[in-house]
Amino acid sequence: MLPQEGLFHSPGAFSGIAILRLLRDVARPQLRDVISSLHHELSTTRGLHAVLGLQPALLPGAPPTPVLLPREGPTARFPSSQSHVLVQVSAGNRELLLGSLRRVLALSKGVLSLEEELLGGRIGEGREAFGFRDGLVKPTREQVKRTALVPSGPLAGASWLLYLRFHQDLERFSRLKERAQAHVVGRTREGELVVDPPAEAHILRARAAGAGDSSPLIRRGFPFRHGGEEGLAFVAASADPAHYQRSLDALLGAGGQTPDALLRYATAVGGGLYLAPPLGWFQALSPQEAAS
Ligand code: HEM
Repeated sequence: MLPQEGLFHSPGAFSGIAILRLLRDVARPQLRDVISSLHHELSTTRGLHAVLGLQPALLPGAPPTPVLLPREGPTARFPSSQSHVLVQVSAGNRELLLGSLRRVLALSKGVLSLEEELLGGRIGEGREAFGFRDGLVKPTREQVKRTALVPSGPLAGASWLLYLRFHQDLERFSRLKERAQAHVVGRTREGELVVDPPAEAHILRARAAGAGDSSPLIRRGFPFRHGGEEGLAFVAASADPAHYQRSLDALLGAGGQTPDALLRYATAVGGGLYLAPPLGWFQALSPQEAAS
């Protein structure tokens, strides 16, 4: 089954995420109609890339998933703000981005209510809020297929999405000397690997879960500034939600592992697990398709 095309496009210069909650007494077919209309409109807007995810239990055929969030380690925590629908949009200009978010609200009226919205986008040539180069390697289509798409079964072509909203303590991080900052990340600001990084360096912790060269997840997050807070809207796509458990536990230092140094400067304030259905799911139910 074909996947959502948006999964192949990393967030562009302007990015946004909307988290929506299902209103009470809304029937499932009504939700599916709305989601299908949203997908149809966003995916046919030129220059816009969108990915839609649903709370896994809303998709028929989705296996029961062990609880991913909240998750705790000895020194940090990943809380849950799980809701029903996640829409990630990215565009080359702000007008398109704003237009798409307006449409999300207009089309979901009476069925979904907006719970959380974040707008952000690329800083410079691609830096996160601490000023470090991020997203150094752009995944190819082949890598996305291999890493992020469920290969077979009733969910073939679907993708598991993890969303985590991080606040970053810029002031605290800036008090570190340049060398100490690089040791927190495991790379210099410009992205070069640090020689002999400490075991707590972010990239080593991220690789500890098998997230190294053959990473089991595709990162597709973006930096944001909202109400005076700067941070990262971390979004990842993976073929298997079990990878997230291992990745998050490796960062948190669960089970006697070393906690990630980055979590002293970045705090997760919410997040959830969503499932991006394949195209067939929308096509079978979109009102446009049904009417044609
Ligand atoms: C505020 C939160 C975070 C910040 C600021 C951050 C920042 C960074 C930076 C600067 C790099 C190095 C540049 C690059 O490889 O593109 C990196 C790499 C990476 N991060 Fe994060 N990250 C955050 C959260 C996370 C989370 C929650 C995960 C996993 C669940 C994760 C997984 C990875 C992986 C897999 C790499 C590549 C490691 C490698 O070199 O093999 N990051 N991150």
